[in-house]
Amino acid sequence: MLIDSHAHLELDEFDRDREEAINRARQEGLEAILVVGINLDDSRRAVELANQHDMLFAAVGTHPHDVKKINLQTYDRMAELARDKKVVAYGEIGLDFFRNRSPKDVQIRRFGEQLELAQTLNLPVIIHDRDAHKETTAILKNWKGEKRGVIHCFSGDYAMAKQCLDLGFYISIPATVTYPKAEELREVVKKIPLNAILIETDCPFLPPQIYRGKRNEPAYVSHVARKIAAVKNAAPADVESQTTANARHLFSLH
Ligand code: NI
Repeated sequence: MLIDSHAHLELDEFDRDREEAINRARQEGLEAILVVGINLDDSRRAVELANQHDMLFAAVGTHPHDVKKINLQTYDRMAELARDKKVVAYGEIGLDFFRNRSPKDVQIRRFGEQLELAQTLNLPVIIHDRDAHKETTAILKNWKGEKRGVIHCFSGDYAMAKQCLDLGFYISIPATVTYPKAEELREVVKKIPLNAILIETDCPFLPPQIYRGKRNEPAYVSHVARKIAAVKNAAPADVESQTTANARHLFSLH
């Protein structure tokens, strides 16, 4: 059994074949897919979608790209959405200093506010960090609340991974681990314990190497599991069962 801990099945890229993509995931052995929201409207779509399929769960939150659009009502609406029984996490939230689609100071302030909201809602967090390793680690370290969540699409080095693990976070590995240039990520995978790892597609983005240039989808999370097994010299079945157990535990999936 496999779990895709981070998919954007709610996005337009899946409008023409969403049901087929979910069926392909089931055939590939997935037992659950976490559909992750990136702003209020998108989070609403994620929750609606999760309510249409047993194997889908949802996360609600505002991505760093979109935090400039947060207004006075946004957090109340998110909190209402989060009461839905299919919502198992808050996110994705964090920092993106690669594109800076929202100003840095706004990103930092909204990240802190959303960590607080997640704590109030008693939900684990899904953290997005791109080109903001130092700042992300510092904010998580200084955060006084419960440290429960995952660094999604991990792109830091082993030193950062170790700090995040010591704080109590899981590390989620995407299909970039299959890319020829991803030596550093494979080094991280090799060194961190299997009981700290989640796997994800972040689809429709970041397909495995053999599908580069195409759309990614949840079924391809099996490629991530197989690559991790190869890198760690572990049995693929152990990688599947352990990463699935980790995701079930973090998101309280039954
Ligand atoms: Ni994402």
